[in-house]
Amino acid sequence: MTEHERPQAYVPPFYSQGVPKDRFPEHGMPPRQAYRLVQQEVGLDGDPWRNLATFVTTWMEPEARQLIDENLHTNFIDHAEYPRSAEVERRCVRMLADLFNAPGETTGARCQGSSEAIMLGALAAKWRWRKAREKAGESTERPNLVFGGDVHVVWNKFCRYFDVEPRIVPLRADRFTVGPDDLEPLLDENTIAVVAVLGTTFTGQADAVVGINDMLVSVRERRSLDIPIHVDAASGGFVWPFIYPNTHWDFRLEQVRSINVSGHKFGLVYPGVGWLVFRDREELPDDLVFEENYLGRTDPTFTLNFSTGNSDMIAQYYMFCRLGHDGYGEAITAMKENAEFLGGRLRDSGRFELIGADGEQLPLVCFRLTGERGYDEFDVAGQVASERGWMLPAYTMPPDAQDVTVLRALVRSNLGRSAAELLGQDIVDACETLDKKGGLHPDMRKRVKTGTGY
Ligand SMILES: Cc1ncc(COP(=O)(O)O)c(C=O)c1O
Repeated sequence: MTEHERPQAYVPPFYSQGVPKDRFPEHGMPPRQAYRLVQQEVGLDGDPWRNLATFVTTWMEPEARQLIDENLHTNFIDHAEYPRSAEVERRCVRMLADLFNAPGETTGARCQGSSEAIMLGALAAKWRWRKAREKAGESTERPNLVFGGDVHVVWNKFCRYFDVEPRIVPLRADRFTVGPDDLEPLLDENTIAVVAVLGTTFTGQADAVVGINDMLVSVRERRSLDIPIHVDAASGGFVWPFIYPNTHWDFRLEQVRSINVSGHKFGLVYPGVGWLVFRDREELPDDLVFEENYLGRTDPTFTLNFSTGNSDMIAQYYMFCRLGHDGYGEAITAMKENAEFLGGRLRDSGRFELIGADGEQLPLVCFRLTGERGYDEFDVAGQVASERGWMLPAYTMPPDAQDVTVLRALVRSNLGRSAAELLGQDIVDACETLDKKGGLHPDMRKRVKTGTGY
């Protein structure tokens, strides 16, 4: 009897013979067996609910999951075939433009995440700069982009992929964001844009966007250089409007020309959906928009991907309708309060100091050990993982703050108050274990994952 005739076998062949790995499989297997095989493989991943490293949504309501499931077979790019989905994209862009205080009608795009949105937003800045330089009969050879060392790696990627010189303000051991005085010396006539981050990956703080805007307004008047700001609001774009509504960082500031935000972070949708929003239509150069007609109708496209899933965008629209401004406010406030609760527990243990908690910050706790203890933050991360299974990232800050090591715990929807209480206790207990044994075993230490977990 072949394996196909024994689809209900309790012990499937892969259990003793191993799984397809290196060669394209000669024969298939019954669906239940294939399911068990794959399920057993990915079941060995870390548990997303214990993943304190990720900014990405790990819980959604059943109705959202139902919509996701019902739309898994639609392709986002088929606007001609799915015109209502195309309208959903436009609605979401308009809603975000409203949330970010755009002065009038604008445009934007649904993207795979903030990374794609950043590539497209920065390309638009490069195109606008080049057009202006060509018009003035000036060289377009050496574009540069100015930002702090607190940016996400995607900004370095953009510079390398699209041939732009990165001009980076280094961080300092006592300062993990950047402001106008740091950035101004790096600007010149070849600067395509300045990047300001709202909610950095490293500490959850914001660059001084108001000061950067004021500086650029003054540079425009003093030096006749009109340099735009792109705000990387990957995480902060769904946090600041709800818990810091009076802080100006968005289109209320005149040099802010484009903003990206990740729907799959504090937009509360599963990955991958992100958004790019322009200040107004003129900010998107026409020659970055391609017209194609092979899907049945002439359709403008402004994307790096072509075919991709539709369901996360639909889930985003669900979330906007489901929560509204009040609901997002309630959700983000609750996360922030739980972050403050957890931070308070850690600080009160006398073992840690908090970073960024005295100012505006994402719902997270960024912290480091105080005093000499015979072990470091990597040891704490390893001990917490081995005792309680929490994936708590420890990492060094970017240059020139590389001697500072921190731990960071994201607080998302599934870290309720009692889980936050448990986590705080688990971290303190792990330190007590380390106190007794004076650090982590070197073998275990090697295994501790580093990185910021984005
Ligand atoms: C500040 C910042 N920018 C950009 C990104 C990249 O976003 P995405 O993962 O949505 O592509 C991240 C991811 O964590 C981020 O924190």
